[in-house]
Amino acid sequence: MAPDRAQWQGTVGHQPGFTLQMNCYDHWVLPWLIDLCMRNKEARRYREQVIPHAAGRVLEVGVGSGLNLPFYGPGVRHLFALEPSPELRRMAGRRTRHARFTVEFLDRTAEEIPLERASIDTVVTTWTLCTIPDAIRALQEMKRVLKPSGSLLFVEHGLAPEPGVQAWQHRLNPFWNRIGGGCNLNRKIDGLISGSGFRLADLHTEYVKGLKPLSFTYSGRAIPT
Ligand SMILES: C[S@@+](CC[C@H](N)C(=O)[O-])C[C@H]1O[C@@H](n2cnc3c(N)ncnc32)[C@H](O)[C@@H]1O
Repeated sequence: MAPDRAQWQGTVGHQPGFTLQMNCYDHWVLPWLIDLCMRNKEARRYREQVIPHAAGRVLEVGVGSGLNLPFYGPGVRHLFALEPSPELRRMAGRRTRHARFTVEFLDRTAEEIPLERASIDTVVTTWTLCTIPDAIRALQEMKRVLKPSGSLLFVEHGLAPEPGVQAWQHRLNPFWNRIGGGCNLNRKIDGLISGSGFRLADLHTEYVKGLKPLSFTYSGRAIPT
C-alpha cells in the first residue's frame, strides 16, 4: 500500500459513512471515470504510436477498459490482459470482440504476475505505473516474465523536471491519489524503469495538453538487462 493511501485511511478510518462512500466511488464511479478520461485525443495519439510495436505473446499490465486493444497490429499472437478491477475487465471484455488474436484476462495485480519466466515477447503498460502500489516489484515481475530478447513498451505520466511543477505535484498528490484510485503524480518513471533491471532503449518526454502537474509524459521502450 502506498504511504499516502495508508495515511489517508488512518485519517478517516473511524468514519464508516465516509469509508462506505469511498468504496462505492472506487467500485462504481472510478471505472467509468477511468474509461471516460482515458479516451482523450492525446492518449489516442500515444496509443497509435506505441501499441503497434507490440508483437508475439504480449502481456498488457493494467489493461483498464481495453482502450489499447484496437491498436495492436497483426504481429500479436496472444494477449494476456492483466487487470485487477472486475468492472474494468468487464468493459475490456466487450472490446475484445473484434480482436484478431486470442485474449486471456488475468485477474491479478502486477506485483504477482501468474506467468512463467521468459515467456513473453512484449510487455505493455500505459498510464498504469503511476497507480500500482509497489511499482518496483511490478517492474521486476515484468522483467521476470519477459524473454531476454523482449521489450517493455510504456506510456506514463509522472514527475516533471522543473522544481516549481514538482512542488505542485507533491502538494496535490495526496488528494489526487484519493480521487484517482491510487494514482500518483510524482513518480519518476525513467528512474523506476532503469532501477528495476531495464535499460531504456528509447525515451521521449514532453508535456501534453493540460495542467502541467498532471501532464508530463514519459514514453518509450526498455529492454531487460
Ligand atoms: C489510469 S488506468 C489506465 C488504464 C489503461 N492502461 C489505459 O491506458 O487506458 C490505471 C490502471 O491501473 C490498474 N491497476 C491499479 N493497480 C494495479 C496493480 N497493482 N496491478 C495492475 N494494474 C493495476 C487499474 O485497475 C487501472 O486499470
